[in-house]
Amino acid sequence: MPPLPSPNDLPASPSELADLALRTAVAAADMVRERRSAGFGIATKSTATDMVTDVDKASDVLIRGLLLDSRPDDGLVTEEDADQPGTTGVVWVVDPIDGTTNFVYGHPPYAVSIGACVGGRPIAGAIVEISADDRYVASIGGGSYRNGSRLRLNEPPELSRALISTGFGYDPDRRRDQAALLGRIIDQVRDVRRLGAAAFDLCSIAAGRIDGYYEHGLNDWDLAAGQIIAAEAGAVVEHLTGGVPAPPGCIIAAHPDLVGPLRDLLLTHGADEL
Ligand code: IPD
Ligand code: CA
Repeated sequence: MPPLPSPNDLPASPSELADLALRTAVAAADMVRERRSAGFGIATKSTATDMVTDVDKASDVLIRGLLLDSRPDDGLVTEEDADQPGTTGVVWVVDPIDGTTNFVYGHPPYAVSIGACVGGRPIAGAIVEISADDRYVASIGGGSYRNGSRLRLNEPPELSRALISTGFGYDPDRRRDQAALLGRIIDQVRDVRRLGAAAFDLCSIAAGRIDGYYEHGLNDWDLAAGQIIAAEAGAVVEHLTGGVPAPPGCIIAAHPDLVGPLRDLLLTHGADEL
């Protein structure tokens, strides 16, 4: 992947994109919250456990409309519908509800996630955890914020005292392999969390609620906004073996001093073979 253009050569202001992402994510989160109490239909997608609801689709429509009203020539990739190139160099990468299983069961977190990418890399993004209206936003070089307060990573613990989160895909074989990998490393960290929304895992790194995160098989929309929010708070967000994250390859995120030990642990236990 080519390097990002220098800040002056970016096709749009990252902070303005972040503002638009946040306004849009807040509007979508408000709608999703209301629609949840009114009831919703459920269908399945890639496997019998991969759900999509009417509200995922309505959120997708709302977000597309709001983004294109403001920036009609941008590209759009959304989980439930769009894959359209634009002409500006900015591509919005959107998960209208990340954590759909949590949404269905009424189990936080579930979140709207909107990233703005240039050359495949996020330069701005916003995530709103819907049930608590918990708002995260970041732009490249501009820092990462939660409900208006700047986020910065604390010093990390040793790996053996680190709280690590991960997730599982919807394909049964992949899921078994992911669980087996987790079984091989769980005794070498403090404990493990499975939050159920990858975007929120990355916000949780930024906010210090977990120390490290890894997951195989994410999609671009699970990652885009969370990647910049975690990175702007001081985290390293990389492919398992280093370099730019490349979904569906394994993503790893942690404080710069913890990412090496976490990477070594995962590689020692075969994470690169999943
Ligand atoms: C899923 C969630 C989950 C992760 C899965 C994703 P979805 O997204 O982010 O935490 O483990 O890999 O597919 O289906 O709820 O949008
Ligand atoms: Ca989703």
